Amino acid sequence: EDAEKGRYDHYMRKEISEQPTALAQTVEGRIDDTDDSGRQIDSGNDSDGNVADGSGDINAGSNGANSEKNNPEGVSLEACPPGTFTDVSAIQFVACGTSYHAALYGQQLLARRGVAAQTFRAGEYAMAPAPVDDDTLVIGVTQSGETADTLESLRRAAERGARTLALTNVVGSTAARECDDAMFIRAGPEIGVAATKTFSSQVATLALLAERIAGDVADAGGEDDQLLAELSTLPDAVQRVLDETRAMEVVDRYRGMDSYFFIGRGVAHPVACEGALKFKEITYEHAEGFAAGQLKHGPLALVTPNTPVFAVFTGRHTEKTLSNVREVQARGAPVIAVVSETNHEVIDTADATLTIPDAHPDIAAVLANVQLQLVAYHVADHLDRPIDKPRNLAKSVTVE
Ligand code: G6P
Repeated sequence: EDAEKGRYDHYMRKEISEQPTALAQTVEGRIDDTDDSGRQIDSGNDSDGNVADGSGDINAGSNGANSEKNNPEGVSLEACPPGTFTDVSAIQFVACGTSYHAALYGQQLLARRGVAAQTFRAGEYAMAPAPVDDDTLVIGVTQSGETADTLESLRRAAERGARTLALTNVVGSTAARECDDAMFIRAGPEIGVAATKTFSSQVATLALLAERIAGDVADAGGEDDQLLAELSTLPDAVQRVLDETRAMEVVDRYRGMDSYFFIGRGVAHPVACEGALKFKEITYEHAEGFAAGQLKHGPLALVTPNTPVFAVFTGRHTEKTLSNVREVQARGAPVIAVVSETNHEVIDTADATLTIPDAHPDIAAVLANVQLQLVAYHVADHLDRPIDKPRNLAKSVTVE
């Protein structure tokens, strides 16, 4: 029945609204202060009967053995206990599409904790792989676990001696089977071609994985307790965004323009890129996402009163992003800020706002992305696009 649209017109809209449930499944049993009632959680791929109850996070592989929780205030990746990644000295992410944007987010979380991490587009990595050693961990971020370029990248890394990990939604997928380890995002089935709930669950899983890797590799001190606490309550915060969103009325004001730009700094950068990807995939309107600091290096030439700019604010780099907002406003572009409801400076500066609850910056990124999913959805719906099956696109690209 999960695969039915229910009261929604499109699977995409249904899947956007399922995010609180998906995220609850993603973090269930993985953060020590969550309800640990022992309830079994759907693995995200019930068709093969697997159950991910926390004990099966990491399947059989080099470090597949289960262990008891021994970090009562931190991350409980039971099959991936502290010490799992002690031998790792560098991380490489390989991914495509929306998963690539989730990987960029994961890279930033690791970098902030002192872990060397790089992110590659799998189509490029498969052709020109980066150097690896046996202490390199290559993480394939792939919802389906079947994307040809990502699989090829993981194989190229493995044959040159790297350790591989699949971060995926599908328990029986090729990536999960072929990699040394697999970690499941537990988002449940996703039917719409445009990835929505799986991005949020990927990001939440990457936040947990980054905590574990950073603890092992960088000896980076204590966990980010605030981030972990807010991951536990993220389902409620996403529900608030869904309940209070004004995306439909905001985008009503900016339809029929030439192009749509999305900007952000730090973790708001992958969110801006993901917002633009979602927008172009389902509306067929031109949209691009940029690192806000890149505006001056080219994109600013395209900015006019007919190019609305969505500016994503997470609570970090606010002044710098605000100065980019003023730059585009000076060229006549209307700015729609996606920002905390308490950030009055940004709210007063922007031409329109989509607000999110006040949150840790890494959590704010997820909340902002939900607003941008709704923006894309409402524009596409108004244009009567085939939202669940956009032309020329496939849910899973199994050819290189
Ligand atoms: C296709 C889909 C995207 C998806 C990408 C990567 O392009 O249309 O929604 O993000 O493949 O898929 P994966 O299953 O590897 O995450």
